[in-house]
Amino acid sequence: MKRSKFLLFEKDIPSQWYNVAADLPFQLPPPIHPGTRKPLQPSDLSAIFPMALIKQEMSSRRWIDVPQEVWDIYRLWRPTPLKRALRLEKALKTTCRIYYKDESVSPTGSHKTNTSVPQAYYNKKEGIKRLTTETGAGQWGAALSFACNAFGLGCRVYMVKVSFHQKPFRRSLMHIWGSEVIASPSEETESGRAILKRDPHCQGSLGMAISEAVEEAAKNKDANYSLGSVLNHVLLHQTVIGLEVKKQMAMAGDKPDFLIACVGGGSNFGGFALPFVKDKLKNNKLKIIAVEPSACPTLTKGVYHYDFGDTASLTPLLKMFTLGHNFMPPGIHAGGLRYHGASPLISALCAHKIVDAVAVEQLDIFKAALLFAKSEGIVPAPESAHAIKVAIDVAKKERNKCVVFNLSGHGFLDLASYDKYLSGELQNYAHPVSEIKRALKQLPQV
Ligand SMILES: Cc1ncc(COP(=O)(O)O)c(C=O)c1O
Repeated sequence: MKRSKFLLFEKDIPSQWYNVAADLPFQLPPPIHPGTRKPLQPSDLSAIFPMALIKQEMSSRRWIDVPQEVWDIYRLWRPTPLKRALRLEKALKTTCRIYYKDESVSPTGSHKTNTSVPQAYYNKKEGIKRLTTETGAGQWGAALSFACNAFGLGCRVYMVKVSFHQKPFRRSLMHIWGSEVIASPSEETESGRAILKRDPHCQGSLGMAISEAVEEAAKNKDANYSLGSVLNHVLLHQTVIGLEVKKQMAMAGDKPDFLIACVGGGSNFGGFALPFVKDKLKNNKLKIIAVEPSACPTLTKGVYHYDFGDTASLTPLLKMFTLGHNFMPPGIHAGGLRYHGASPLISALCAHKIVDAVAVEQLDIFKAALLFAKSEGIVPAPESAHAIKVAIDVAKKERNKCVVFNLSGHGFLDLASYDKYLSGELQNYAHPVSEIKRALKQLPQV
């Protein structure tokens, strides 16, 4: 009988995070100060981040210890299962072996708690009283709310307006853990008010919500800002995913030929794939594929250039693939993938052709999600369904290959989107060429 689950013991939860910066065959371009346009110094970030996270952001140490307090909370849901999708394989009549890492079993239903817990921990340790953040679909806001509650911190979440209305139950989750949730753009901040003055019906974007959350943290001494993706320290925390996958693939006696995950800002992709970058450097046949929505095609249609992480140009300039910080993505239901930029680490790996990127359409990802739900029994988050779609495509095309994807979250709080898909109300979006051209014209000169 073929085995369908590869389960680790609690003692196998990684006690150190893996920092890929130690093993990259190239130098990462430094982040740049938005005012002086010089490389950023650690003290430049201290108004919004605790020093422990700033050090991690800039570290080149290969292994960084997971604090015991964080490890103890990880134990609530880690290690997560690696599953063989035997029923999906059968439905596809494929000769490939399909595995998926199931990050949907976390308390909030996605990978985001892997970093929200350490971020809340380090802020608490450095005397911060409350955190501000942005959220798209609500997965990150829920994860940070859970973590702030665990460490007795307050939390204020700026939620992209379109998702605030599309995903009301993620808001409920944030309320359960005691957070305040504000639809962004809002009247609460200068940057929010400026956007609403230009466009009173603006549906928001992650870039706008980041501006609001950063502004509030920068103006208040007791508050810090917390980011759910993009930055090096966030990807670092997420490497618990890939480190576990490595042990589980060894248990399965198999080796990945394809590693596939979706990319919003790049944290689940990075967490899953970065521990395999060394393998890729030794064996170029290993394919590492980042999947994004064609409505927000950062890695496939963006440019590799310094840009701001937010709309109001408050953040440091990061060298990354970007569609322009003023790019306004269409309101696709994978709200967590509506970001104009991508992690500098993942962008550099794409630029150096170590990672491949593909873009997929909204209707195709829901079709793939339904096949997965019908065969494997898990309703995936629309974001995760991007990885499923490409894993299915690869398994249909290839023969006898080992295909591993990251199921970054479940879709139990995305059922309204599934209803819309089932009743034929969802659409694909034409590639937003003119919007991208317009936004790219406003890239900063560095
Ligand atoms: C389930 C899920 N997967 C993936 C993402 C994309 O984010 P990232 O690229 O940081 O993993 C999100 C973002 O909200 C998400 O909720």
